[in-house]
Amino acid sequence: MSEQKVDTGKRDFLVAATSVVGGVAAAVTATPFVTSMFPSERAKAAGAPIEVDVSKLAPGEMQIQEWRGKPVWILRRTPEMLEGIAKDAGLVADPKSEVPQQPDYAKNETRSIKPDLAVLVGVCTHLGCSPQLKAADAKADMGMDWNGGFYCPCHGSKYDLAGRVYKGAPAPINLVVPPYKYVGDAKIIIGDDGKVA
Ligand code: FES
Repeated sequence: MSEQKVDTGKRDFLVAATSVVGGVAAAVTATPFVTSMFPSERAKAAGAPIEVDVSKLAPGEMQIQEWRGKPVWILRRTPEMLEGIAKDAGLVADPKSEVPQQPDYAKNETRSIKPDLAVLVGVCTHLGCSPQLKAADAKADMGMDWNGGFYCPCHGSKYDLAGRVYKGAPAPINLVVPPYKYVGDAKIIIGDDGKVA
């Protein structure tokens, strides 16, 4: 068991993965999240919805789940992260998520049902690489206007902490928000928002 932390200055990101997903530098947390999933592994692999308990996910932590063979990032954003997203409006190509690529509940600044919890497919929309989480203090590498987000090392696309792609990036659209819904304050289902089969 190990942890992966990204130095943020005031606070570390704790990146935790409940499973190692292809192409993702996944870490297994020493403080396992209580994660319940259904149905069987075989059904899950075939694309069935998964239930995820996010009750242990503290502000600044990100959990990675596999859904339909892809990594899904679940990030509990801090108030500072949300402030950073607000500041990014002029930097990103589709700040209000008007490109019709996501569920209606993601057509907002945070691209989420609840502002604090981001649920994103962690696959670059350019050619499918896996972007890396970069904290707000990575300004030396990412530029002085960087407020935290994701960087794809394959061809340099940048996304903010709402998964909104930066202007001028090779990636054409924002990161995909999968269908999901809450089934309680701290439990979500990924792959079923009540509108998909
Ligand atoms: S695959 Fe991410 S920038 Fe090309």
